[in-house]
Amino acid sequence: MGLKNDPGWQQDLLRLNMRRPFFKEQSIWAIWVYRYGRQVDAMPHGLRRRIKTRWYWLLFRFVETWTGISLPKEAVIGGGLRIFHFGGIFVHPGARIGTHCTLRQGVTIGNKTEGGAVPILEDDVELGAYAQVLGGVVLRAGCRVGALSVVVHDVDSGVTVAGAPARPLHPRAPELVLLQRPFGRQTDS
Ligand SMILES: CC(C)(COP(=O)(O)OP(=O)(O)OC[C@H]1O[C@@H](n2cnc3c(N)ncnc32)[C@H](O)[C@@H]1OP(=O)(O)O)[C@@H](O)C(=O)NCCC(=O)NCCS
Repeated sequence: MGLKNDPGWQQDLLRLNMRRPFFKEQSIWAIWVYRYGRQVDAMPHGLRRRIKTRWYWLLFRFVETWTGISLPKEAVIGGGLRIFHFGGIFVHPGARIGTHCTLRQGVTIGNKTEGGAVPILEDDVELGAYAQVLGGVVLRAGCRVGALSVVVHDVDSGVTVAGAPARPLHPRAPELVLLQRPFGRQTDS
């Protein structure tokens, strides 16, 4: 069983956009095992599925321990997932992540307390290194979370938040930007 016909996996590869990614990116191992697990879960019940589920668990535990990336097959993750680097990345099994999202090392997407609600990330959400997204929050399409931030409130579409707790970064007033512009330089680049 391969993932050649899995559209989510094909989008993951497109986002990597490199030759021989298995030799260059540890995160692709974790994403592959995740997509494989989802495919096994979609199989009809029976011996084949039971054997493949055992094989999945072995791969999952090995890759999770080796890379420090935990992407359980119970989480719902859209295609085009990109994970930069590895280590300390934990996604709760109940989390839902849209398409073309970006995670980095140290990211947690989990609950605030055991058994509590878990986050929903819509499409094109980007999380900076060590961002912690906790509880039943919704991160709407295209929002960005700064490195080392703790997100405990919903984030609106397209907004960038940072800090602990994470708050929207206010765009600077145009007058201030003009004052800070180096003398004689063009602004638009
Ligand atoms: C949040 C982020 C996307 C904002 O980038 P940006 O739009 O270029 O914003 P700026 O750098 O102009 O910063 C705007 C303000 O937010 C503050 N800020 C930026 N990132 C912050 C963060 N992670 N935590 C707290 N404050 C932050 C800046 O100090 C600045 O405040 P000021 O106006 O008072 O000086 C970016 O800073 C970030 O954290 N990206 C994650 C990248 C990452 O994880 N890289 C790891 C690679 S291995």
